Amino acid sequence: MRVLILGVNGFIGNSLTWHILNTHDWEVYGMDMATTKLEHCLGHPRFHFFEGDITINKEWIAYHVRKCDVVVPLVAIATPALYVKDPIRVYELDFEANMEIVRQCVKYQKRLVFPSTSELYGMCPDKEFDEYTSNLVLGPIPKQRWIYSCIKQLLDRVIYAYGATRDLDYTLFRPFNFVGPKLDDINEPKEGSSRVVTQFLHNVIHGRPIKLVDGGRQRRSFTFIDDGVDAITRMIENKDGCASKKIFNVGNPAMDFSVRELAEMLLDLVSKYPGYKNIKKKIPLEDVSSAEYYGSAYQDVTHRVPSIKEAQKHLGWKPKTDLRTALKLTLDYHLLHKDYELNKMQTR
Ligand code: UGA
Repeated sequence: MRVLILGVNGFIGNSLTWHILNTHDWEVYGMDMATTKLEHCLGHPRFHFFEGDITINKEWIAYHVRKCDVVVPLVAIATPALYVKDPIRVYELDFEANMEIVRQCVKYQKRLVFPSTSELYGMCPDKEFDEYTSNLVLGPIPKQRWIYSCIKQLLDRVIYAYGATRDLDYTLFRPFNFVGPKLDDINEPKEGSSRVVTQFLHNVIHGRPIKLVDGGRQRRSFTFIDDGVDAITRMIENKDGCASKKIFNVGNPAMDFSVRELAEMLLDLVSKYPGYKNIKKKIPLEDVSSAEYYGSAYQDVTHRVPSIKEAQKHLGWKPKTDLRTALKLTLDYHLLHKDYELNKMQTR
């Protein structure tokens, strides 16, 4: 099988590629603007990398959509601070650029494995979010935080409609707060420029207070990246059509923690690394209002737990990694050494 991954150097892309190369005999064709996270994959005989931009290198993409069997377009802005700061850029990249890829899959009748998002459920009151019954609840237009959720919802609906009316073979997957090494750039200095685990770790490393938005009461179900890419690989494999025309939450309902609990667990784990023994005394947890941290266009999600019955039933998948292990592997990568494979061997 030939798999085309756009955004192959991203957090999910690089990890998915590595997992595929190690577990299947498929060829992976990958495009991205950089190779910073691909050190393990580069040079592999079944990995074919092209340095490019999905908004520019359209001929390369068209050629490879035709050539490959499955297309996985992972290029998107997925950082809440940017939904608020640069919503038009989010729209142009996440919606317009990706719609072109979707249309090509329809044109050439290729299987599309597309990233939806846990953000779609927004402020849904359900205890567990279900792919086929939960309502998708977003705030008013000036709350620009929802532009990403809204864009992804429309993409889901368009892809679903192409499946129903033009027989597009697709799978939509919804990652629930994937965490792990290589999530965001740990050295990015700006507050709010990365997702929560990287932001907290950045603050710890640089001796800055951890900011708990609105007291850190909001909850997330954190999912280790290796578990996540295992699920996505099963969707690409699509054994006996088990994933065709389906939607899957990919998350870990057992790892439902508040952001404050996450901060406390992270500090506790960091204190066990050389040079960080007294870190809990040095790094205060400071409450900050969401308006102060992100601006008035932000609105938060109070709780977010996935139902994973669909993934269990059709993919035979369930997550294996608890949050402490996920964070420890992330810390090993940033605080000890970058050999993630070695770290995993030592942890397990
Ligand atoms: C994320 C992003 O939208 C996407 O990456 C993705 O689609 C989706 O959710 C997902 O990963 O499932 P969110 O969970 O709000 O959204 O992203 P984070 O930036 O990781 O924030 C998590 C929570 O921590 C938020 O409530 C935020 O306010 C809080 N936070 C963040 C803090 O309290 N302090 C910080 O310094 C940073």
